[in-house]
Amino acid sequence: MSEFSHRILIWYDQHARVLPWRGHPDSYAVWVSEIMLQQTRVETVRPYFERWMNQFPSVAALAAAPEQAVLSAWEGLGYYSRARNLHKAARLVVNAHNGQLPRDLAGLRQLPGIGRYTAAAIASIAFGMDVATLDGNLKRVFARVFNLAQPADSPAGENSLWTLAEAHLPPGRAGDYNQALMDLGATVCLPRKPLCQLCPLSDLCQARALGLQDERPVLKPKPVLPHHLKAAAVILLDETLLLNLRPASGLLGGLWEFPAAEVEQDSAEAMSAALQAAYQLKIFPLARLTEIRHTYTHFHLTEIPWRCDLLQLPENSPLQWIPIHDLAACPMGKVDRAIARRFSV
Ligand code: ADE
Repeated sequence: MSEFSHRILIWYDQHARVLPWRGHPDSYAVWVSEIMLQQTRVETVRPYFERWMNQFPSVAALAAAPEQAVLSAWEGLGYYSRARNLHKAARLVVNAHNGQLPRDLAGLRQLPGIGRYTAAAIASIAFGMDVATLDGNLKRVFARVFNLAQPADSPAGENSLWTLAEAHLPPGRAGDYNQALMDLGATVCLPRKPLCQLCPLSDLCQARALGLQDERPVLKPKPVLPHHLKAAAVILLDETLLLNLRPASGLLGGLWEFPAAEVEQDSAEAMSAALQAAYQLKIFPLARLTEIRHTYTHFHLTEIPWRCDLLQLPENSPLQWIPIHDLAACPMGKVDRAIARRFSV
């Protein structure tokens, strides 16, 4: 075992975070946790994971659940395709794999939502297989300890990092090794101001020896995100709201929203014209309620909800009247939930 692996395992034996999915005997729990932890911090995931395991305690329970219930349980975690894929994969596991997660990398990677990182994390943590994995935290640790000058998010940099992760893998303890590096990256080898004085690897760290720890990992410059302005129609009639169910796939797929459309200007005229064009809705904007900002992966959004009178709804409109009592059970993204909260009872 390399000095690097020896040190990280000793550190993990003393400092491993106590997390609800750790020591869980069930590969389903490990799988759920790894999907939730993609792009999401441990402290955000913790309460979601615990609620989820109560609500859907097994692959079979998840497979049997309606998609709306699954999306509701995920509401607030973002990147909703993760929930839709997890649900699809659970149905596949039940229908095509006898209810058991495949116990090999290739089989795992055939399931929706499971890529190279997640397959290796599940295989090592749940099945004790000797496979390395690599997420953002691990990339940062390896890029610093081995002073990688290549961009960590380039194909060449990723190759070098996978090679390092595999070269140091201690046979028999891959799950601990992978999770030790995740914990070190999340609590000590921080993106900014790393706590090198607490790090078990500090005297092995080549970037630190050169004073380059703040310059590693090298990352490609982030693209500047475009800004979108949308107006939304809030139409309340007899304690019901007029809502749209988004298509099953794509951004916020399967979630409910207030009918909305992109506008060039923040004005009543622009909003009513845009909603008419998008939904053939004839409305009269009464009051501009607020301004909600949110950043998605590929754009910044400012959304302006307007309280409106309905003048005409086309007969074949896809929009649906939802009683305000049922709003809480309709899964929504952050922006629409912020609007709905004004009416929830
Ligand atoms: N991030 C992703 N997976 C993790 C795990 N199993 N433990 C801690 N942090 C993680």
